[in-house]
Amino acid sequence: MGKQQNVLEKIVSLAKRKGFVFQSSEIYGGLNGCWDYGPLGVELLRNIKEEWWKAMTFREDVEGLDAAILMHPKVWEASGHVENFTDPMIDCKQCKARYRLDTLSEQLSEKKIGKILNEFAGNVSGDQGKVFNEIYERDIDPAEKFEAILESELLNTSVLEITNCPNCGTKGEFTSPRSFNLMFKTFLGPVEKTENAIFLRPETAQGIYVNFLNVQGASRQKLPFGIAQIGKAFRNEINTKNFLFRTREFEQMEMQYFIHPGDDAKYFEYWKEERMKWYKDMGMTPEKLRFHDHPEDKLAHYAKVATDIEYEFPFGWGEMEGIHNRTNYDLSKHEEYSGKSQKYFDDETKEKFIPFIIETSGGVSRSVMAFLVDAYNEEEVNGETRVVLKFHPKLAPIKAAVFPLVNKDGMPEIARGIEKDLRSHLRVFYDDKGAVGRRYRRQDENGTPFCITVDTQTLEDQTVTVRERDSMEQVRVHKDELLTHLLNRLK
Ligand code: GAP
Repeated sequence: MGKQQNVLEKIVSLAKRKGFVFQSSEIYGGLNGCWDYGPLGVELLRNIKEEWWKAMTFREDVEGLDAAILMHPKVWEASGHVENFTDPMIDCKQCKARYRLDTLSEQLSEKKIGKILNEFAGNVSGDQGKVFNEIYERDIDPAEKFEAILESELLNTSVLEITNCPNCGTKGEFTSPRSFNLMFKTFLGPVEKTENAIFLRPETAQGIYVNFLNVQGASRQKLPFGIAQIGKAFRNEINTKNFLFRTREFEQMEMQYFIHPGDDAKYFEYWKEERMKWYKDMGMTPEKLRFHDHPEDKLAHYAKVATDIEYEFPFGWGEMEGIHNRTNYDLSKHEEYSGKSQKYFDDETKEKFIPFIIETSGGVSRSVMAFLVDAYNEEEVNGETRVVLKFHPKLAPIKAAVFPLVNKDGMPEIARGIEKDLRSHLRVFYDDKGAVGRRYRRQDENGTPFCITVDTQTLEDQTVTVRERDSMEQVRVHKDELLTHLLNRLK
């Protein structure tokens, strides 16, 4: 097992043991692609959303929204999701394993891919040979060549005939590729008939587009301005993978910025930088963050330009957030399908037009995973391994833990008093079980930035020790100044 994959397994196990994340419906064997957030996880999740909300809406030019998950079915026809929101899928006839055609190469070793390419080179001729040679001569690695062959309708069935199933190893037993729509379908009302079919939203963005003029009219905003929303989204992913990375139910934090058409390049750059800065401000390691621009032939149906903010997860670089120039695609489509004008009237220039949109679209659960991975550290302290989650204090689920050094001499009473005073301002935790060193370790694993200990000196001068998680340094603070001390450090 690779060292990095090992780290991921340790994080998944810690996440369960400490109550960050549990498998959904675990007692029934779990539900694939769905996860539940436990006591610490829900705090982390809420803190991430709260910080995003503050960064995105505590400004003059962005308004908030909370649209319904269920929307009129025409929305998804207009948006292109009914037609385009599909992934190509194949099944192994032998073991019934199901794969996304476009990510099959991720499940095969480099050696295996090399072997397939060599065998294929010896088999193809005619039109197939021409397309194959063109791909083979491209300056890309073998996995990318294999992906390009799978993307080609002329070649993919033939290459699958000589490809082994990553699960059972059987060669050439794949079904032909089929398109699979990722939207979950359900029915409105008691009768399950086609006219009543509706979808669980696969992105929160459409709730913003259909409310564009409502929000603009009510808030009297002028371009450029944005609408932000946090909410659940659902995708019936063919393969879920890597813990919280690709799930079937997840949350998005999206902001749509409405602009004059000519300003799109400027605001695309602006939001790219703003969003990257946010991850860094939240303490993420800068070297583990990068932009990945989408090549033109891989752009989503609505996008003119797109870039991802990627994080280097233990399994490699992965997208956390997408920034898209969606042009006037969505509003134009809603105008066409609803028959209602989606034009904005500029009262200075007296122009009427459909605004362009720059979208920032981040996944909350992917962020939880990235923040967990980034915070995870194993350190050697006095010959022992200390596991510590070094969350930014703003994201830490518990801000401070309060301990009496011993359970006598009036220390528990003072510690309980401190806990009570802090609790109405901060999420705090009281612990009087075991040696104080053990209590520190437990809080390090929770990611708690401060531990407060009431000790013998407290009885004399009313000061307590405040131990900082990352440096493990301790300072003495008067108990009446504790709240101010902590609030200053939590900024
Ligand atoms: N409105 C645009 C949109 O939805 P996207 O790139 O498909 O764009 C945006 O998704 C973000 O949503 C991704 O960067 C990711 O963080 C999150 N996301 C998408 N699919 C996901 C899934 N199956 N599981 C978890 N997060 C997902």
